[in-house]
Amino acid sequence: MSTSSPARKRTRWEDNDEPEPTSEHPPPLRRKPKFTPSSASVTPPIPSVPRPLSVLGSAKRGPPTSKFVPPRTAHPPLLPSRSVYCYERLNQIEEGSYGIVYRARDKQTGDIVALKKLKLEEEKYGFPITSLREINALMQCRHENVVGIREVVVGDTLTQVYIVMDFIEHDLKSLLTLMPSPFLQSEVKTLLLQLLSAVAHCHKHWILHRDLKTSNLLMNNRGTIKVADFGLARRFGDPVGVGGMTQLVVTLWYRAPEILLGATSYSTAVDMWSVGCIFAELLLNEPLFQAKGELELLSMIFKLLGPPHHTNWPDFDKLPLTRTLNLPPLHPPNWRQKFPYVTNAGIDLISRFLTYDPEKRITAEEALRHSYFTESPLPKHPDLFASFPSLAAGEKRKKPFQSPSAPQRMGNYKLLTEFDLV
Ligand SMILES: Nc1ncnc2c1ncn2[C@@H]1O[C@H](COP(=O)(O)OP(=O)(O)OP(=O)(O)O)[C@@H](O)[C@H]1O
Ligand SMILES: [Mg+2]
Repeated sequence: MSTSSPARKRTRWEDNDEPEPTSEHPPPLRRKPKFTPSSASVTPPIPSVPRPLSVLGSAKRGPPTSKFVPPRTAHPPLLPSRSVYCYERLNQIEEGSYGIVYRARDKQTGDIVALKKLKLEEEKYGFPITSLREINALMQCRHENVVGIREVVVGDTLTQVYIVMDFIEHDLKSLLTLMPSPFLQSEVKTLLLQLLSAVAHCHKHWILHRDLKTSNLLMNNRGTIKVADFGLARRFGDPVGVGGMTQLVVTLWYRAPEILLGATSYSTAVDMWSVGCIFAELLLNEPLFQAKGELELLSMIFKLLGPPHHTNWPDFDKLPLTRTLNLPPLHPPNWRQKFPYVTNAGIDLISRFLTYDPEKRITAEEALRHSYFTESPLPKHPDLFASFPSLAAGEKRKKPFQSPSAPQRMGNYKLLTEFDLV
């Protein structure tokens, strides 16, 4: 984005923002909250104090005070959230289902960051559990290949909550469409190793990502992958409620067959299926299963892997939706046809990610030790990756070279003759 636009306009975070406040904390609410003497004595007036998460989202119902929330002095280690006005907004990167992502500059340090504004306007029941999980998972899964969370900042109303992250130049999906040629085998290995080490780290910390896909994998100009968007993440291993775990997880093309067939308890294997789809996408330079609906996706999976049966997935017929399916006749998998240029070790690894039985599907730790990564060509060092213009930073792709324009046709055009040259 051009830096020539007026600073005042760029530092506004909301359409109806007033001129930028100077304090580090959110400016006062325009409508003065009506405090009863008793509530005012329990909780100091917002917004000079940080808001406890339990009252976020109650903006429309009145001042966010609660007799159930102890005063801040009872929790000295809790620090107040800084204001979003500590950042200068540069440009909008993307609007996703759960938030709008902006590129911004930290006014104190000059660092370029990404701010994800959580969509809270329509929330009727306070601060959503999914957003709490997203923040919590990002904080628990700090790793070289997971996008770094810096802080959570707030605007001047309770629906303005932003996650501040390190800014990463690309997401893998946009990059795949922008690149003139697909990644080399050695590059695919590096990217896959990084993804696997992030996923192994999350699983070690009992976090399921549940939405691994190329648009949620960010990549910087130094060849490093960062897993992002923990909006569907949750802890596993905890007791699960009566209804089980939701099946409304994982973007369709990357969704594991056990979820498609109605399993209400699933685990790390759902992420490993998605990793297999991403690996295939890197090799093919297009998504592996581009289905329009769940049934079409199942039939594409059956076509590539052969249909499931009790020998390759013993618990298959216990799943709720199995009986509603008409299975095609048994046939062996079509790996070689689909991936003609991949080595046997590569095909072996794909088939271990895309294994029907979640119990037998490879784990991230096991995959990291697979022979595919030690055979030639070896993984390329990340520093040797090419860099690309960043769409997120508003950089345009340069034309390879500027060729001179064609000569203009003129009515009195005359061929140059030898006579003219003397
Ligand atoms: N830290 C970051 N640096 C740069 N770009 C980012 C960053 N985080 C997210 N983005 C961009 O914003 C997009 C949307 O972000 P994210 O996936 O977190 O939001 P979402 O609302 O959950 O999206 P969706 O539901 O579409 O997956 C990403 O695909 C990426 O292009
Ligand atoms: Mg996303």
